[in-house]
Amino acid sequence: MSKKIILDCDPGHDDAMALLLAHGSPEIELLAVTTVVGNQTLEKVTRNALAVARIAGITGVPFAAGCPRPLVREIENAPEIHGESGLDGPVLPAATLALDPRHGVQLIIDTIMREEPGTVTLVPTAGLTNIAMAVRLEPRIAERVREVVLMGGAYGGGNWSAVGEFNIVIDPEAAHIVFNERWPVTMIGLDVTHQALATPDVVDRIAAIGTRPAQFAVELLAFFREAYRDTQGFDDPPVHDPCAVARVIDPTVVTTRRAPVDIELTGTLTRGMTVADLRAPAPAGCTTQVGVGLDRERFWDLVVDALERIGDVAP
Ligand code: BDR
Ligand code: CA
Repeated sequence: MSKKIILDCDPGHDDAMALLLAHGSPEIELLAVTTVVGNQTLEKVTRNALAVARIAGITGVPFAAGCPRPLVREIENAPEIHGESGLDGPVLPAATLALDPRHGVQLIIDTIMREEPGTVTLVPTAGLTNIAMAVRLEPRIAERVREVVLMGGAYGGGNWSAVGEFNIVIDPEAAHIVFNERWPVTMIGLDVTHQALATPDVVDRIAAIGTRPAQFAVELLAFFREAYRDTQGFDDPPVHDPCAVARVIDPTVVTTRRAPVDIELTGTLTRGMTVADLRAPAPAGCTTQVGVGLDRERFWDLVVDALERIGDVAP
């Protein structure tokens, strides 16, 4: 049986890869896509999400724009990593899909409340503003979702500060709400995603597919390579967001450990840190787990398979 997901994202090169993976995977039923301010403004990331939908031939899935700013903090975008458009590199087509008229937060709520309890997985790959707003507006979704599998955080080092990861640092209050809810949370942090490196052999495999969506992925990864080399000294770029989707497709791709996780809100050096208590054993009733390892080969196989299944899409 396929797994129903809502992808909440801020495309973003790796968000775009996550969307391609979700769309091309037979194990996934993509129920909705929502956008949130993050890598760029809400307007830009929403435009990017619709462009990716066109490139990948996604139809019949509602896309809705969510929150234009974090709950409390000022807006922080990441042009150093994703460029001024949020998806610099490939030439983006104009959108053909119309946005769902609902607010993204409402679309999340409506979708979860409509489906059978325990069947919908939330997959946030951006700041957690929409998800926090959704559970505050409709607290019943906390019992109805199957789980939250999010890309964000780190128990080792950070990328937006010494200990903070971008998606959590940009809206730590939202993250605090999400990590302290009753739903199960799986944190796929940098500890995992820094293993999802798009090495040249991976890019060659994707290029060999020879379709327009695959060529788009190659162009995304080319820009990402330069950005990560110039800003963070990586030889090969870490492709974060699809790791969360891959975990839903096949839980064995990411190994996890159960551990309490909370969000640092007040530290002067540690704001937005995901403080994971990895002392064993985890207390009874602990609802959070953290990703600790990635089956890198299987991960890239899933991405390549998905792109092959998407096939060619008319411009
Ligand atoms: C996360 O930050 C964003 O720039 C990426 O899209 C990813 O979701 C990695 O820290
Ligand atoms: Ca993202």
